[in-house]
Amino acid sequence: MPPNLATIIYLVAAVLFMLSLGGLSRQETAKRGTICGIVGMLLALATSILSDEVGLYGIVALSMVPAALIGGFLAMRVQMTGMPQLVALLHSFVGAAAVLVGFASYLDSGQLEGAALLVHHIEVYLGVGIGAITFTGSIIACLKLHGTMSGKPLLIPGRHFLNLLVLLVTIGLGIWMVATHDQTTGVVLLLIATGLTGLLGVHMVMAIGGADMPVVVSMLNSYSGWAAAAAGFMLGNDLLIITGALVGSSGAILSLIMCRGMNRSLANVVLGGFGTDGSAPTGEGPQGEVISIEPEASAELMQQASSVVIVPGYGMAVAQAQHTLAQVTKLLRDSGVEVRFAIHPVAGRLPGHMNVLLAEAGIPYDIVLEMDEINDDLPDTDVVLVIGANDIVNPSAENDPASPIAGMPVLQVWKSGTVIVMKRSMGTGYAGVGNPLFFNDNTRMLFGDAGASVESMLASLRKE
Ligand code: TAP
Repeated sequence: MPPNLATIIYLVAAVLFMLSLGGLSRQETAKRGTICGIVGMLLALATSILSDEVGLYGIVALSMVPAALIGGFLAMRVQMTGMPQLVALLHSFVGAAAVLVGFASYLDSGQLEGAALLVHHIEVYLGVGIGAITFTGSIIACLKLHGTMSGKPLLIPGRHFLNLLVLLVTIGLGIWMVATHDQTTGVVLLLIATGLTGLLGVHMVMAIGGADMPVVVSMLNSYSGWAAAAAGFMLGNDLLIITGALVGSSGAILSLIMCRGMNRSLANVVLGGFGTDGSAPTGEGPQGEVISIEPEASAELMQQASSVVIVPGYGMAVAQAQHTLAQVTKLLRDSGVEVRFAIHPVAGRLPGHMNVLLAEAGIPYDIVLEMDEINDDLPDTDVVLVIGANDIVNPSAENDPASPIAGMPVLQVWKSGTVIVMKRSMGTGYAGVGNPLFFNDNTRMLFGDAGASVESMLASLRKE
């Protein structure tokens, strides 16, 4: 393929990726955004494969076909609750790819010499380092999100000093590698740096846990983008650089949004430990009597209300209750009740997790509101239905300065007339913090699997 044509197609693909990101920022345009992304990626792949630099099509097919089949199989089989760990795993692949490209590109530096070779070696070193951190960090995040590894942070004494030491040694090795003219020494130094930065990735993600995991997920998303951009520099592929920078910067913006959602600074998350320092969750949680309610009585309460706000959380994803909930919503709205949904920025286990589930169930977008848009309306709301949410409605975040999640903005559901909390037990949420909301006079606990409870509510509403 003529290089000029390839450049034009790459440009079209880059524009499609930008349109894709723009589209994904709103539910109404998310589908269009996804299609733009798919078309852009197909164009990018086809152009790379048909470019003059690629030959040996047998080997290309041998690596691409099984990978595409495995990817397709995994994506089709994964449950919505398994999506966060799958995304983390996919981030790790980008990191691994950057490391492998780095080694290949170091061993085959072509005709480069002088300043160009120096710049190339710096690119390789940075690319391998970012790739190794992304790879190991994402694997640990995947294991934590999957529950294979405890979500609690590993806070070893002097950990900041250790991180700094590893960083300084890595920088020193980098200077040595860039200066050396001996390729064998260079490869050995690169291998040591891969090990060290890989360890840094493990340690950084092990040290973050609990309620801080949303930031880790979005930070690793950002790292995977920078790893791809680094691979683009090493391969001299402009589209990979642009795409990587788009993913890297959008991931960084997402991390900041997540931090804002938790009222924390990025440095505070990376250096601290939020809801996870082991100080409070280990002790006795809030105690008292709870008032239970049955699904039928809950349905009646909602039908008699003039305004209902539904707060979905991770438990709704586990119970897959969104489809039945959509039918309950429709029945209530048909009978004149104002029903709206309140979404916390870190609800569930993925950015936008709840929005995806509600969109999948066909809940109208205009009744799905963000926390900031709806919090002020909660005191005037008759009934709030909390379905499988816990940390995001925990009043101790606001009322108890000693709480491990103190300072995190939450949905102030306790200010409404009656709160119905649907969950299976008195167990804690992801951050492992007890929730005093359950013991309030205006709280009713609807115990059981949210899927079964919503089914019973639906049956009861249909009878009336
Ligand atoms: P959580 O605080 O984790 O609470 C979910 C609740 O759902 C649990 O208390 C659980 O109680 C209940 N539940 C589970 N399965 C259920 C079922 N089948 N039926 C009914 N209830 C069920 O969730 P949240 O309120 O959505 O808060 C999210 C938390 O995850 C935050 O701490 C956040 O920081 C963290 N996190 C978020 C992300 C992103 S990016 N959103 C990523 C990683 C971590 P029972 O066991 O008693 O049923």
